[in-house]
Amino acid sequence: MNIAIKTINNAAELRALNDLAAMLKEHFNEAGLKSIEKDGHTGRRFGAYLADKLVGFIIYKEINPEAVELAWMGVSTELHGKGIGTKLVEESLREIGKSYKVCEVKTLSDTEEYEPYEKTRRFYKKLGFVPLETINPYPGWSDPCQIFVRFLAK
Ligand SMILES: CC(C)(COP(=O)(O)OP(=O)(O)OC[C@H]1O[C@@H](n2cnc3c(N)ncnc32)[C@H](O)[C@@H]1OP(=O)(O)O)[C@@H](O)C(=O)NCCC(=O)NCCS
Repeated sequence: MNIAIKTINNAAELRALNDLAAMLKEHFNEAGLKSIEKDGHTGRRFGAYLADKLVGFIIYKEINPEAVELAWMGVSTELHGKGIGTKLVEESLREIGKSYKVCEVKTLSDTEEYEPYEKTRRFYKKLGFVPLETINPYPGWSDPCQIFVRFLAK
């Protein structure tokens, strides 16, 4: 599959990102979609394109000058498990790693049995993210949060 990873630059590309997020209903509720829209304006954004169609997105938010958060990502449901998410993370982190030493990601903890997020946790672990603390309940969430981190510095 010929997937190209590019930065998301203009308003039309950003709209496509929000439309794609809205299709991932098992993962993003209304509040999540609003945050994606807000963070999409300020964060560093990358898209995965298949023949010029956006099929995946990722948004990073700065935590401090040395640390960044992989705040949001998603891949079109019908294309899950085909390596698009892996390519999106690896290629975008190559860029992001030029500016930051460490990348954090927060996701639903494995203390909650919710199958869609088991795949998500497996995904991050496979990409070298190390599980740290679980915070329960995480402020602003009604659910427990599992924090993962990956070092970017050489
Ligand atoms: C998490 C997500 C971005 C992964 O993208 P993807 O393109 O499906 O990932 P890949 O194809 O690169 O998969 C890599 C690994 O993730 C896990 N995985 C991801 N999707 C899977 C699926 N549908 N079934 C089984 N394993 C899956 C597997 O461990 C897989 O490795 P394997 O193929 O060797 O078994 C995608 O599943 C997604 O959009 N999920 C919904 C949104 C979400 O959870 N976002 C993260 C929180 S903000």
